[in-house]
Amino acid sequence: MPSTQAVILVGGKGTRLRPLTSNRPKPIVPLVDRPFMAYMLEWVASHGITDVIMCCGFLADAMVEEIGDGRRYGLNITWVVEPSPRGTAGALWYAQPHLRDERFLMLNGDVLTDMDLTAQMVAHEQTGAVGTLALVPVEDPTAYGLVRLHPDDSVRGFLEKPTPEQIDTDLISAGAYVLEPSVFDLIPKDRLVSIEREVWPKLVGNGLYGCVHRGRYWMDIGTPQRYLEGTQDILSWRVRTKVAERLRDGPVDPSAVIGEGSVVDRAALVDRDARIGPRVTVGTGSVVGPGAVISENVILENAVVLAGAKVGKDSRLRDCVVGVDAVLGTGVIMSDAAMVGDGAQVGDGNVLSHGMRVGPGATLAPGAVWF
Ligand code: GDD
Ligand code: MG
Repeated sequence: MPSTQAVILVGGKGTRLRPLTSNRPKPIVPLVDRPFMAYMLEWVASHGITDVIMCCGFLADAMVEEIGDGRRYGLNITWVVEPSPRGTAGALWYAQPHLRDERFLMLNGDVLTDMDLTAQMVAHEQTGAVGTLALVPVEDPTAYGLVRLHPDDSVRGFLEKPTPEQIDTDLISAGAYVLEPSVFDLIPKDRLVSIEREVWPKLVGNGLYGCVHRGRYWMDIGTPQRYLEGTQDILSWRVRTKVAERLRDGPVDPSAVIGEGSVVDRAALVDRDARIGPRVTVGTGSVVGPGAVISENVILENAVVLAGAKVGKDSRLRDCVVGVDAVLGTGVIMSDAAMVGDGAQVGDGNVLSHGMRVGPGATLAPGAVWF
């Protein structure tokens, strides 16, 4: 397989993940032990991709700082900042000066997956397609692009965000495409163009194929619930990632300190320099980030405590996220996808549930919230 370039679209704002995305773009939201984008980069690199063109809309500086030139991932990353948003197809024009005149990959920048891109590129060559869409089955296709196939895998119909009545297959576009340069002939210049609404429909019957990825992991991590589910799935090895390799040596980093009578589940991570007090349970799907401090008699279940955060004694955290350097007092209860932003201070005895979100740097007086 010759070396391949990949265009990754990271123009979205990620508003549904606030407060995690209040002060950083979604691609660098920490997921388990690395920025979300690292999973995508490690995934593409493992399929022989050498060059990545990252198309960003906003806050590019923070991303460039965190991800850099890609050398760490064995990649060469070119950063393209769009002067004005042009949609999922229009963005390709900004990438075009950096593309060689050969087939390339295009990827939505918001999915956690281990789909077999190599197999998809092989299928693309075999059919002689202009474009080949990665397809995965999902329970509810309404939030995605529905794809109907002919028996030879050519696409019979593409329907972005179908209504329930229109659904007659469970296959959706997974946001990973192999494309020939001739696709540019179908994208008008200098205006907003959606690849899903304007380009795929034109290509149906004219060289658009699907490649079904069965038995592989695929998830859009854009909501708090799915962020937590993704965390759990990475830690339980349900998705092939470099974290799974790291966890082979156990869930506790050698530099972390674990107090007496505390237990850490195998499908959890206590990262470097974290400190866990006595009688703490770090349950399945939980992360205690670098330098985070958990006081005594705390229970974490699918709870993510990011770098430098502090959790007071007798707290109970389930299905929730505590931001970088946030501080929780004694007896705080969090559940149900509640999220506390970076640097927030949550006083003793607060109860945060029902998707409650506390903004970065906010302060809650002791017992202020019971929600
Ligand atoms: N650079 C750039 N510029 N990126 C953009 C722009 C833009 O103008 N508009 C959207 N993006 C990026 C988003 O950041 C995201 O990574 C990707 O393009 C897809 O946009 P979303 O807004 O996340 O779309 P979606 O999730 O509703 O639907 C898309 O993904 C589904 C799979 O998750 C579609 O491609 C569907 O067909 C697909 O099923
Ligand atoms: Mg999306």
